[in-house]
Amino acid sequence: MRVKIVAGNWKMNTSYQEAHTLMEEIVGRKAELGLHDAKKVVLIPPFPYLQYAYSEIAEIENLYIGAQDCSRHERGAYTGEVSALMLQSVGCEYVIIGHSERRQYHQEHADILFEKVEQALAHDLRPIFCCGEPLDIRSSGHHNNYVIQQLYDGLFQLPTEKFVKTVIAYEPIWAIGTGKTATAQQAQDMHRMIRSEIEKHYGTEIGKYHVILYGGSCNAKNAAELFSCEDVDGGLIGGASLNAEDFIQIIKAI
Ligand code: PGA
Repeated sequence: MRVKIVAGNWKMNTSYQEAHTLMEEIVGRKAELGLHDAKKVVLIPPFPYLQYAYSEIAEIENLYIGAQDCSRHERGAYTGEVSALMLQSVGCEYVIIGHSERRQYHQEHADILFEKVEQALAHDLRPIFCCGEPLDIRSSGHHNNYVIQQLYDGLFQLPTEKFVKTVIAYEPIWAIGTGKTATAQQAQDMHRMIRSEIEKHYGTEIGKYHVILYGGSCNAKNAAELFSCEDVDGGLIGGASLNAEDFIQIIKAI
């Protein structure tokens, strides 16, 4: 059986006080979440709150903290950057790499992303590697090749023992923060395609167990349908993860 994961990407939202309230609401209802070894939740707040967030969840099994990005560099004179070592040392288990907002607004290209993946793995962080096509690529019908290329550039250069520590998040750009979700069939088709590409590259066993999340306007109403797809192993949730009730309903939907 594959592990299921629901990850909440808070993006650049919440003051410290708001983050505190949100954490307390989620942690206070931990019994409801039904977490176990094959059902995990990752909370991904902004950098300044990571250490605090970790202190809230440190004792709770199968609840983890992740970061939204990490530097491609190991350490040194890179003002404003946050290294994988720093994240690991404050309790992070996961780190998002290659989110479309980083690709688009910070010109993060394939070579940079692969360096970030390597940094994360070198410091025992599990990369949540994002892929997904813009609307014009979807409309032209080239979305499968586009996503495959992103995976070959950013992830498939890894040897098997490192690749198995990663998680893939498929997030069609036209569905992120737009309220326009991929249909369950569109999500399933892409996830199936990604899994067969993993099988081709790393073998059937590896493909069978690799976790592939869906992201893009996933919410308390549509989560159950998306998560019922055979190859969808959970979600990377943006907007809906900022509301404790909605986020908990999404976790319960898996
Ligand atoms: P959204 O964001 O759920 O607000 O669409 C998802 C993401 O960008 O991870």
